[in-house]
Amino acid sequence: MRFEDRVVIVTGAAGGIGLATACRLASEGARVVAAVHSEAHLAETERAIRDAGAADVWACLCDVSDEAAVAACTAGTVERWGRLDGVVNNAGVMDFKAFDAWTAADWQRTLGVDLIGAYWFMRDAFRLMARGGAIVNVSSIHADMTTPLVATYAAAKAALVSLTRSAAIEGREKGIRANAVLPGAIETPMLRENPNIKSGAETIAPEDVGAPETVAAAIAFLLSDDAAFITGEALRVDGGRLARL
Ligand code: NAI
Repeated sequence: MRFEDRVVIVTGAAGGIGLATACRLASEGARVVAAVHSEAHLAETERAIRDAGAADVWACLCDVSDEAAVAACTAGTVERWGRLDGVVNNAGVMDFKAFDAWTAADWQRTLGVDLIGAYWFMRDAFRLMARGGAIVNVSSIHADMTTPLVATYAAAKAALVSLTRSAAIEGREKGIRANAVLPGAIETPMLRENPNIKSGAETIAPEDVGAPETVAAAIAFLLSDDAAFITGEALRVDGGRLARL
């Protein structure tokens, strides 16, 4: 039970990698704050995480791009349970457009969720977590290699790796670790709704598609004391897809 007595926040926890991660941490004894974007998913998310074995659960309505909403979520966590031990910045959006078509609103949406939303949680984690706290940011293999039509997403995910590195450096004296995972193709709605996949512009062999639970396991490791000497790392969880020539 690596997370017994620990309080962890998982953003974008209503499905996919976020829910798998929240359930994995719950099964290891955590008290879980599930930051969920849509009110319609609050109750079912809370139930799924409780059923996975959580010591306690709070499903918190939170748009991660809204600085005040993030502050309410982190303050509410500490008010409820008196501590914060871990944050998993998993919420993400991916839009598709030709390189010369992006607008200011497009950039604001993607950076607001995928990068700056993670920063709001990391900033609060720095202020609220005691020594031994840990942050895991869910980036993407698009931080390293990418495909056409996803310039804002690839840029945001690459910047998130950089932001993780900065947090690791400045977190050292506070005893706070920060790492990133870079998932490859993972079987979630985000993968199947990807127009590049739907159109066949990007093909993925079945053996290159991983389950959300495989990413959750890597996140749980990096968040746990098993990774006490690992910080500033960017861990690919892609089944070796990017390792091939
Ligand atoms: P998903 O679409 O199921 O999860 C994204 C979650 O983020 C959803 O629960 C959504 O409600 C939430 N979200 C979106 N905007 C939000 C906001 N403003 N505030 C709070 N929550 C918000 O897809 P998936 O695949 O589980 O994605 C999770 C993370 O994994 C994302 O950051 C994604 O970029 C990343 N990822 C996914 C890959 C895949 O193949 N599925 C590959 C690489 C990275």
